[in-house]
Amino acid sequence: MVRQLLLHHIRQLLTFAGPPSPRRGVELRDIGLLTDASVLVENGKIAWVGPAGDLDGTRVHDADEIDCSESVVLPGLIDCHTHAMFAGTREDEFAQRSEGVSYQEIANRGGGILSTVKATRAATKRELKRLTARRLDLMMQHGTTTMEIKSGYGLNEEAELKMLEAIRELQDEHPATVVATFLGAHAVPPEYEGRSDEYITLLIERILPYIAKRHLAAFCDVFCENGYFTTSQSNRLLSAAAGLGLGVRLHADQLHQIGASALGAELSAHTVDHLERIDDRSIAALRSSGTIGVILPGASFFLGGPYAPARKLIDSGVPIAIASNFNPGSCMSFSLPLMTTIACTQTGVTPEEALSAVTVNAAVALGISDRFGSIDTGKEADFVMFDVPSYRSISYEFGTNLVSRVIKRGVLLEFP
Ligand code: NIG
Repeated sequence: MVRQLLLHHIRQLLTFAGPPSPRRGVELRDIGLLTDASVLVENGKIAWVGPAGDLDGTRVHDADEIDCSESVVLPGLIDCHTHAMFAGTREDEFAQRSEGVSYQEIANRGGGILSTVKATRAATKRELKRLTARRLDLMMQHGTTTMEIKSGYGLNEEAELKMLEAIRELQDEHPATVVATFLGAHAVPPEYEGRSDEYITLLIERILPYIAKRHLAAFCDVFCENGYFTTSQSNRLLSAAAGLGLGVRLHADQLHQIGASALGAELSAHTVDHLERIDDRSIAALRSSGTIGVILPGASFFLGGPYAPARKLIDSGVPIAIASNFNPGSCMSFSLPLMTTIACTQTGVTPEEALSAVTVNAAVALGISDRFGSIDTGKEADFVMFDVPSYRSISYEFGTNLVSRVIKRGVLLEFP
């Protein structure tokens, strides 16, 4: 029996339809807008999309129908960079930063990432799952139906695998689509202080092969930064990961320019993320490599700038995605609509470009654009609806959750 859902007479439908390749330059402005449109869903997949008047009524049998004449409908939003699994909180560091202490100073005093590592190591897998499932529920309520989650708050074999196994269980149990990334090289663990090369060797020789064998992560990521991991250590780790079949990503050019995104381009990395301090040479390298530049405007906002030069990246032909970077240190928010607002007001991105960056290009960033990120026949029926006058309101009205409904694999989600 075919289970049908009909979204009928949609006020504005943003399809982002087109090839599964990343959008660059002016392509980012093409949101595939249809007015008074309909989408027919069958068994969780998109079966038909077009102007409401063109829908052949004989195709529709007993469908659950939603009148969308007041709604703007988009593909479910995709958050391609999060650290959503962690224990503990760091509001005291937030207070210190408000008095002028920098993110790096806090890290140098033993806070920052390492303080979350302590709390995450102490938590059980069950506790991590409980905390993260609650966050995923909230992310879905804010329109995110697919998200990446990184490990990286374990920094030893036992705790990194605990995180990845907890993510794996959430992939099976939670309605959201979750993509896992191994970020064992998020910081040098205290036990390896002054021996970061040996830590990279441990990751390469013991932990990565286990992860690859059990398919516990789709990507391997590294914080390539002064005081964390050098370009040569990053190169060693990511080359090993690529050899085992994992996609590679880098936290690049966030605090200093040390050639991290240029390394990403050289390795044909899937993404280079942050880019607050990217230089012209690296922008040119990214343009030719096809690597996606993931912009995290919430982190710049939360840490007090600077911002990645998103306008320049787009105009130079680098495909960009926008993500929340949700984590307890540099961005304690998972709202992608808010991230689009910040991108528009602080980095000169247009609302159309920003919405492409949290849908179609975010799907490319996670290697899932064959199934997610646009409203095309055959794709997963993931939608977010906003009862607003026009899609531009999604970025324009900020600070409240404007999402009215979320549909995941053809099922309307119920929120408390
Ligand atoms: O992307 N830069 C490294 N990782 C995170 C911050 C993590 C934390 O502070 O806990 C980021 O900003």
